[in-house]
Amino acid sequence: MTETDGAERLRDNTKFWRVLAAAAEVAGLLWGKGWAERNAGNLSFDVTDVVPAPDGAGVAAGATALPRSFPELGGRRLLVTAAGSRMREIAQDPDRFCGVLQFSPDGSRHAVAWRGRGTGTFAPTSELPSHLAIHAALRRRQSAHCAIVHTHPTELLALSHDARLKDAAQLNRLLSAMHPETVVVVPDGLALVPYLLPGTFEQGLAAGVAMERHDVALWEKHGAVAVGAGFVEAFDLIDTMNAAARLLLLCRSAGLEPEGLTDAQLDELRRAGA
Ligand code: 13P
Ligand code: ZN
Repeated sequence: MTETDGAERLRDNTKFWRVLAAAAEVAGLLWGKGWAERNAGNLSFDVTDVVPAPDGAGVAAGATALPRSFPELGGRRLLVTAAGSRMREIAQDPDRFCGVLQFSPDGSRHAVAWRGRGTGTFAPTSELPSHLAIHAALRRRQSAHCAIVHTHPTELLALSHDARLKDAAQLNRLLSAMHPETVVVVPDGLALVPYLLPGTFEQGLAAGVAMERHDVALWEKHGAVAVGAGFVEAFDLIDTMNAAARLLLLCRSAGLEPEGLTDAQLDELRRAGA
């Protein structure tokens, strides 16, 4: 599918435009939350079932080769935000700052199948390795989730600077004790990924491993990432966990050490949700 070809095919595709509308909605929420300074954050969505398969072989020679292949993504199509794009601009103009990548049958290369109304060459987010590794993990999980949201949620990030909080179980215990909703909305808690240089393949692969068993991960001293059926659902997970972190920091800054829910109360909550 050439870019022109892709544009024609997508013009009347209501499902595809709904995905873009949800990207715009969540981009606006991220900006409104103050989690999206400059170009912070990025989004992706597996549109394989929404965007028709290309005629012919698909990815032509000259496509971008990946440092390693993701066989799970072979032949698939991902909508991704552009490198350097601002959430406040995506909220207004999603089809200017998003593109669709088509993957080769073996998942080793990708080409731009659609770049919307963007001018010039479409460059996918610098954090594409994380998006690829997480989408691959979702396919291995046989998950119905298609959306990935990465953002820089202030209070969770502040907690990730606490040298005493290097253990995911300890952090999840602290967050769930602050806010019963975390147990309901994110029953498996969040994964903690130690700091690695953003945008590197190493960081991407670590993100993929974390999302084998979790729907939300906190990337130490960088940001958070979540998966969901849609962008809104993925956003909700980060929003809920960040609300717990905000409560904790608010108590501490008011000079009070929060009592939190007891273990018995948390167990009761988990049993009620089971
Ligand atoms: P991109 O603009 O390349 O998507 O990067 C945003 C970001 O969150 C960097 O950490
Ligand atoms: Zn980031």
